Order: sequence, then C-alpha cells, then structure tokens
Amino acid sequence: MKRILCLLSVALLAVASWAQVSYDVIPLPRSIELSPKGEVYQLPQGAVVTYASGNEAMASNAQLLAEFLKTDAGFEVVPQADAKPAKKQFIPITLSLGLENDNHEAYQLTVNKKGIVIQGVSEEGVFRGIMTLRKAIGTEGGESISLPYVTIKDEPRFSYRGVMLDCARHYFPVDFLKEYIDVAALHGCNNLHWHMTEDQGWRFEVKSMPELAKKGSIRKQTVIGRNTGVYDGQEYGGYYTQEECREIVAYAAKRFINIVPEIDLPGHMLGALHVYPELGCTGGPYEVWPHWGVSHDVLCAGNPKTLEFLKKVLGEVAEVFPSKYIHIGGDESPRDRWKQCPKCQAKMRELGLTREAELQTYINKELEAYMQKKGRDLIGWDETLEGGLSEKAIVMSWRGTSGGIQAARQHHRVIMTPTTYCYIDYYQLKDQWGQPLGIGGYLPVSKVYSFEPTDELNEEEAKYIMGAQVNLWCEYVGYPQHALYMLLPRLDAISEVQWAPKGQKDFDAFKTRLPRMLKLYDKLGYTYCRKFE
Ligand code: ACM
Ligand code: ZN
Repeated sequence: MKRILCLLSVALLAVASWAQVSYDVIPLPRSIELSPKGEVYQLPQGAVVTYASGNEAMASNAQLLAEFLKTDAGFEVVPQADAKPAKKQFIPITLSLGLENDNHEAYQLTVNKKGIVIQGVSEEGVFRGIMTLRKAIGTEGGESISLPYVTIKDEPRFSYRGVMLDCARHYFPVDFLKEYIDVAALHGCNNLHWHMTEDQGWRFEVKSMPELAKKGSIRKQTVIGRNTGVYDGQEYGGYYTQEECREIVAYAAKRFINIVPEIDLPGHMLGALHVYPELGCTGGPYEVWPHWGVSHDVLCAGNPKTLEFLKKVLGEVAEVFPSKYIHIGGDESPRDRWKQCPKCQAKMRELGLTREAELQTYINKELEAYMQKKGRDLIGWDETLEGGLSEKAIVMSWRGTSGGIQAARQHHRVIMTPTTYCYIDYYQLKDQWGQPLGIGGYLPVSKVYSFEPTDELNEEEAKYIMGAQVNLWCEYVGYPQHALYMLLPRLDAISEVQWAPKGQKDFDAFKTRLPRMLKLYDKLGYTYCRKFE
C-alpha cells in the first residue's frame, strides 16, 4: 500500500510539474510531436548547456539561454563549451548546428532520455529554438523541470518579421530600446525598424554635421492632446549618438535582430530644415514642429545641396548600421512647394519630367545608386510608387495593401504593414474609457491576428512579399510603459502572422495559449493590455 501511495504521489508530482511546461507557445511551432507514452525528462538545476567551442554566436546563445531561464524561472543552467558527458550519461542541453533545411532559421528541438537538443541550420535557427524552449518552460523553475519528451520542427514563414518604433515624435532611452528588442526577440521577430527623424525632431547624430542632431532634436514645446492649440511650454529633445546606435545594433545582433534605420525623406524633414533652412524650397525659417500632422515644407528637390546633404547623412547611417536594408521613408511628402519652386521646376525641365511625383523618384534613384555602392538596398513607404520605383526598391505598404500588391506584381519586394491590420498606435479596445489618449482608430488583437499578407496575390507574386510588420507611431506615446502597452499582446498576434504557414492560424487556439505569455510578461515586468478583443 505504501508503495502504491508513493508511486501515486510521484505520478501526481510529475503531472503537476508537467503543467508548468507547455510547447504550445506563441508563435506556435509548426510541428510538435509529443511521445505517446508521455515520458518526461527531468532537467536539474545547474544543468550544463553545451556547444562547440570557437563559435562566438553559439557561446552567446548558450549564455542568453542561461540568462533567460534565470530571469524567467529563477532556474540555473551553466554554459560550457565542448562539455564531455561522464560514462552512460548525457549532457542535459546541447546546442548544435548541422540541421538540413532550405530555411536558414529552421530548428529542431528534441527532448528525450538523452536530454534536450536544439539543432539549427544556423546560429539564428538555434536562437529561435532557444526562445521556444524558454517559452515552453515559462516562469516556474523549482529544483528540476519536467519536460515531456517531444520533437519540435519549426521554421518561420516570412524572412522579414518586423516591428517598428517611432523614436522621433518621442525620444525613448537606449535601455528601453534594448527592452523593446528583447520583447521583439521573444516573439521571433528579426527586424526592428527604427524611425529616427521627423518634423518633431531629428534624433540621429551625424558627425559631419554636428548641429543637425544638437539643434534639430529640440522642439520648444509639445501640443497637449490632439492639436488643441494648447502647448505644454516644456522644451523637449534627445538624440542617439553614433556610439549608442552601435551599442543598440550589437545588442540586437546577439538576439538575431537587424536594425533597419529610417531617415524619412523628402518630407517629415522639419528637424533638419530648422537647422539648414536653405535646403527647403522657400528658404524658411522653419521650426521643429511642436504639434502633429503633415508639413507642406519638405526638402527642395531642385537644390543640388539637398542630395549632398542626404548622401552625407546616409553615408554615416551606412557606417553605423550594417543592415542590408536602409529605409528612406517617402511617405506624406506634399508636392505643392515643388510646384511653386523655381529650382524644382527647373530640375523637372532639365530631367524632362512631367509630374512632381517623378522628382521624388529622381531623388530616390540618386540615393539608390549611392547606397548600392555600399551594398545596401532601400526601403520606401508606398508613396514611392507614385513617380515610378527605382530598380531595387523595396516597398513598405501602409495605405492598405494595394501599393504592396502593385509593387509585387512589378516584381519588387514588399513588406506589408497596412493601417487596417498593423497600426498598433490605434486603440486596441472598442471602449476607450480608461485608455490612454491615442491617435484614434480601432485595431483589436483579433484583427491583427486575421491578417494574411499575400491576399489577392498568386503564388508567383506572393514570393515578393518579404513579410509583415507592426508599426508603433508615437505622437501620443511618450513613455516606455505606454509603448509596451500598445505593443502587447498585439505583437503576439502578428508573430503568428509572421511564422504560421498560410491558412494555419486559429484565433481560438491562440487565445488559449496567450495566458502563459501574459504570465511571463508579469514576471518580466512588461506592461500590456489585460483585455483583448
Ligand atoms: C505612415 O504611417 N505615414 C507611413
Ligand atoms: Zn524646391
């Protein structure tokens, strides 16, 4: 009897601790095969995580796994290169390369009596697998963790899985950018689109033009509410030094996130025009805007100094950011000043252009030629389609998906980020009572989740869709907690859009998986929206 009771309690204990581990994480892995017999592997505190020596990225992966388990679950594992098991023993966690798959981010995670193995096609794939293990373990460690035997095979659907942060309307501290990167990595994103320049502030240090960030980052005050005409009377500023940018790039790289910097041109340029008014069609003076909206004052396309200025800026951007893709904005750039400007009109005659939109294409082509020499491709918002795209341009479709569809049909690469599914500056709850003031709109988690980035495209055209991204514009978002509140849990929803094979999402199942993620957010101190629709 005693023995039976004892066995029963061991079994109950196993069931109780199993409940802690669930491979039904977000984004959901493609294939999860649990052992039908239900065996568990006991991962002990202090377990070794091994990897082959001589690979810095794998060492960093092991180190990060140890950090994650410590902060999430208070659980200790110990990285050790080339660890050798004692006789008839196995190393508890092995990180390795050599998985064969066309997708370089693919990984396989197995748990059986020999322990836990995460094998990737690349170091990046191993990192994605580490994130799955981390989320499967969740928040509760204990003396050991009981992991059900499993084989997980996973790879992301899209190669570009982005999240954007507008650090121009409001400046966010470097430490918060790192946290934002952590959150993005937790969700399997691989690109942070960093919006750095605006009418309301220029936030990227350009060493050859030190005044640009020093003066262009400062607005005299900020409007209260939605362009009420009432201002707070407080000077507002802040910019990122190149050293800080490099620090952020390196931090992100360890988490396999690429930073795509955006210098928005030729519109949204009052930060720069305030410092260099000669670059505008009217000559200014211009102020760094203290309110929101779209300025009619943009860079003069007919002034040769404009291209010199932009090349200097983008040259330094390329030195600081190793990204293959550099974003040159191009949205909301009214062309009425160009219509009135003798220099712009003369330029159009010289180039034989008939529409002002083509002037924007002329600038983009010049910049593309310049940046191609540095091995970089340019991304632009969908307005860049209007005057014709430059040869290698990538389109970021935001005014719906039609621009992206048009670009894909012209065989241009596309990132889908339509307002209707991806603008997380919109409210996430229908009832706005008690919500922090926002720009308007309504974009619940369910709507983000329902996004299909290749709708209306045939299989051939769909190949040009690199991926999808959520955008957090920050006119009304001035603090880190608020930014995270807008992001979570809508980032969970987009992460399954980015990862799940076409047609394989299930919102009801997603909702059952979400509470474990929220528990992790609580543990990590992330602010998030506790209701979702
Ligand atoms: C945008 O939302 N203006 C790209
Ligand atoms: Zn002009």
